Amino acid sequence: MTRKKVLVTGASGMLGANLVSQLEVHFDVYSTSSSDFKERKFDKFKVFDLNKEDYSPLFSWVDPDVIIHCAAITNGNFCQNNPYEAFLTNSFSCEKLASFSNKECHIIYISTDAVFSPDIHLAKESDIPNPENIYGKSKELGEFLLQSSHKKISIIRTTIVGLNLNSKKSGFAEWIIRSQQKEEKINLFEDVLFTPISIWRLGKEIISLIQNPMNRKICHISGSEVVTKYDFGYELVKSLNGNFDLLTKGSIREFSGRAKRSTDQTLSCKKYEIERSVKLPALIETVNDIKIKYNERYKNWK
Ligand SMILES: NC(=O)c1ccc[n+]([C@@H]2O[C@H](COP(=O)([O-])OP(=O)(O)OC[C@H]3O[C@@H](n4cnc5c(N)ncnc54)[C@H](OP(=O)(O)O)[C@@H]3O)[C@@H](O)[C@H]2O)c1
Repeated sequence: MTRKKVLVTGASGMLGANLVSQLEVHFDVYSTSSSDFKERKFDKFKVFDLNKEDYSPLFSWVDPDVIIHCAAITNGNFCQNNPYEAFLTNSFSCEKLASFSNKECHIIYISTDAVFSPDIHLAKESDIPNPENIYGKSKELGEFLLQSSHKKISIIRTTIVGLNLNSKKSGFAEWIIRSQQKEEKINLFEDVLFTPISIWRLGKEIISLIQNPMNRKICHISGSEVVTKYDFGYELVKSLNGNFDLLTKGSIREFSGRAKRSTDQTLSCKKYEIERSVKLPALIETVNDIKIKYNERYKNWK
């Protein structure tokens, strides 16, 4: 049987780069992003700027059965100060991927908890999005454009944590780990709630959605436990036998100069769990995924 051709966008990013290696076991994987990176081990990679109008160079290189659209401008402050770029990359790329891909192509769009306002605790698929900032609005418009496209689509709203393969990038977990290595104190919000899932666990669910697509267009795939950003940092430091004295409890209210970010970023994944007969991870499993990957890559975390 021929393997499905899968195109991953955002392949130099945290999710995309890790996803390519996971998908390669099952599918014929092609990937793209706006720049290359020295740690890249996979081939069939093409540098392509999704802000271009004409996607034919990408689709003459690969005619995918499935697209996993991970590319986005994820920096909330940058989006807030550069709305044109935010909408061009995060929203209109969806429309262009839909129009240039073949009519059977299944597009899986990685969306976010940021499409909801903080008034909603454990947001469900049936709740109405009401983003607080430009990043959330641009992802919501991406969802809308795909839903209007008449293509086979799956929108995954998630809240991911993990490690970057690309050394030019750094995420939340890496910031905590580095602060421990440099013995620097950091403040973690105790008034921001979220439901984190590791990128590798999300990757498993994406594989299952490619092999066995859902009937509905939107699903929430996140961790199953509500925690604060401080709880996450605490568990991560504990699992790595780090120094708790370097962690202090902070408040998002101290960060008034930044793009507005919801204090409740929690997603309910109950519907997905029931429909797919899976149990999505609690905090300890998510942190353990990070520990395993960190130790695989760097042998010893210190
Ligand atoms: N990280 C989170 O906390 C989080 C939470 C919920 C949802 N999400 C969603 O999950 C997805 C993956 O997030 P991530 O953290 O892996 O993102 P990331 O690390 O910031 O990576 C973003 C990727 O998008 C690419 N990209 C940006 N602009 C582009 C353009 N004009 N043309 C082509 N590629 C472009 C980047 O390429 P270059 O680096 O080469 O520019 C990079 O590969 C995103 O869609 C995001 O909205 C993320």
